[in-house]
Amino acid sequence: MTPVTADGRARGSRDAVVIRRVRPADAAAISCILNAVIENGSFSLLDTPFSEPEEREYIERFSARGVFNVAENRTEGVVAFQSLEPYASVKTHAFDHMLTMGTYVADRHRREGIGTRMAAVAFAEARQGGHEKIITEIRADNQTSLRFHQGLGFVVVGVAHGAVRVGDRCVDLVIVEKSLQP
Ligand SMILES: CC(C)(COP(=O)(O)OP(=O)(O)OC[C@H]1O[C@@H](n2cnc3c(N)ncnc32)[C@H](O)[C@@H]1OP(=O)(O)O)[C@@H](O)C(=O)NCCC(=O)NCCS
Repeated sequence: MTPVTADGRARGSRDAVVIRRVRPADAAAISCILNAVIENGSFSLLDTPFSEPEEREYIERFSARGVFNVAENRTEGVVAFQSLEPYASVKTHAFDHMLTMGTYVADRHRREGIGTRMAAVAFAEARQGGHEKIITEIRADNQTSLRFHQGLGFVVVGVAHGAVRVGDRCVDLVIVEKSLQP
């Protein structure tokens, strides 16, 4: 018998997912996935929703040195996205070898291995692009993300205490890194 998820989908549905480079036309689907996470309020460092035009502009301006991929299936279209963005937002070459990473999977498709599959593709592309390291910041109360990243080989290299203000409380920020070198 085919194993099914709690809502009745076949677990094997992850086989139908294709990973490809993002396109500006993906803006609506991406903002939908991202805004659901932002509105949930407990996962992301982002707290302000993105409109479709804002997301489209972000995609169009995304650095050619980074990696920005989506996962899609035939019936629903885009169900996840992952960006590996150049680390520095200031004018310097000091961080040219480094990226920072964000992964967002539509809640109905979490724990199907999509994030892991996307990371395998993105890491290979990042290595080809000459990148050596990924550093990412995670809210300490996002244990799912922490476990996900640790499963990908990230290690915790620091904690910034109380660095994230969430409403009227402060949450620690966990810094994780992964070497892309063999
Ligand atoms: C974090 C996230 C991207 C993971 O993506 P995913 O496709 O669901 O992850 P995978 O199915 O590839 O899971 C890989 C591993 O991560 C860990 N993991 C994933 N979800 C988990 C959960 N709910 N609880 C505990 N561990 C979990 C497990 O170790 C899992 O391996 P396993 O299923 O063999 O045990 C996804 O949960 C998500 O989009 N969350 C909301 C947005 C977010 O927090 N993004 C990260 C911002 S830093």
